[in-house]
Amino acid sequence: ITNADLNAAHHLTVGGVDTLDLVQKYQTPLYVYDTGAIRQEIQAFKQVFEANDVNYQISYASKAFAAVAMYQVAAQAGIHCDVVSGGEMYTAKQAGFPMANLSFHGNNKSLTELTEALDYGVGCIIVDNFYELAQLTQLTTQREQLTKIMLRVAPGISAHTHEYISTGQEDSKFGFDLNSHQADKAVKQAQAAPYLDLIGIHCHIGSQIFELNGFKMIVDKLVTLFARWQTELGFYPQIINVGGGFGVKYTSEDQPLLPTEFVDAIIKETIAQTKAKHVPMLEIWIEPGRSLVATAGMTLYTLGASKEIPGIRKYLAVDGGMGDNIRPALYEAKYEAVLAKDPTLPSEQVASIAGKYCESGDMLIWDQKLPATKPGDVLAVLDTGAYGYSMASNYNRNPRPAVVFCENGHSQLVVQRETYADLTRLDIPLATPEDVK
Ligand code: LLP
Repeated sequence: ITNADLNAAHHLTVGGVDTLDLVQKYQTPLYVYDTGAIRQEIQAFKQVFEANDVNYQISYASKAFAAVAMYQVAAQAGIHCDVVSGGEMYTAKQAGFPMANLSFHGNNKSLTELTEALDYGVGCIIVDNFYELAQLTQLTTQREQLTKIMLRVAPGISAHTHEYISTGQEDSKFGFDLNSHQADKAVKQAQAAPYLDLIGIHCHIGSQIFELNGFKMIVDKLVTLFARWQTELGFYPQIINVGGGFGVKYTSEDQPLLPTEFVDAIIKETIAQTKAKHVPMLEIWIEPGRSLVATAGMTLYTLGASKEIPGIRKYLAVDGGMGDNIRPALYEAKYEAVLAKDPTLPSEQVASIAGKYCESGDMLIWDQKLPATKPGDVLAVLDTGAYGYSMASNYNRNPRPAVVFCENGHSQLVVQRETYADLTRLDIPLATPEDVK
């Protein structure tokens, strides 16, 4: 339990705000963030880079949690953001985020999205494949618009994590293959494009990574590649972008390195490898998503129905579930929950937390020890700040919850709760027989 702070009444607090007061004010289910905790995570990354005295950029992978207020927090911290769709790009724009500090990712960016990125003046486009490279070459040439790009490569290194969130292995939809020399060809094409400025190479090996090894391997592999490119292609990348994926502690069983320990090792490896291979020192970019927001967020639910199957299991149902947190159903992700009225009460039962969706797989937590509970109690599922709201759906036509930011004892609504009217807003009633004629 990483973010369970208590007040004098023993109530769970977030950013100095009593969670029971939040429930009174905003109802449940509710996503709440400790904004100060997000700022601290950003600061911690900055400090590691500063301590090592290297050139760097932190680019928040906004897919982990994208909302206008979050892009504003990133802008206030002076960091960059990654976007992976026209929608994220638009949200950043609405937030007043400096477009020059955006990087645009994706394995199948549409021509419309690429055009939007050029219209907005997005700082860097991370090119994933030959189709995109050709489109972007044509677009930038037509528009005579010099555009910074990086090439994403698939380093052929897989991180030890869930298959669906592991992305760096050779057999992946993302990036130019290294082993078949696709990346060499892409570099040559980018160099030949009159309006593309190839500033660096990107790779991302996966998410929720606990071990250092994969990161060291990509630094080693990329710097070796850069050394060869120097001599063979006269190409000197300025930037090595190692992606994100730094694991976080969801349960007491998780023992990841600190995000900053990953980064410190990546920096030291880059310094060592560039020296050894006679490559000029590189600017290091990271793209943390989860590690900036996961433990800063939690979801508050109200307990309702329960079911006990004697000798088998006890189910406690909450007023949300897979629509606001798909991760347990999708990845068997584990979370821990506490009772908001007093997280320190002794355990008196083992219960599984079920959602309210019409699906047996709609379970948030299996078999957790909890104090005695009754309907109406507020349950806080901790560390849900990453890929919760951003992967939320309207399954079963449930409105998506509101999001509240808390800091220094104050709360602020940053995303409104959806209403029933929002659910039908885009629906169009069936045409009448006359209309069809
Ligand atoms: N950079 C790139 C190119 C990525 O594809 C990702 C995540 C990140 C950075 C950020 O990774 P992070 O630091 O958040 O691990 N929905 C899944 C996670 C999917 C991650 C996809 N890419 C989940 O809920 O676990």
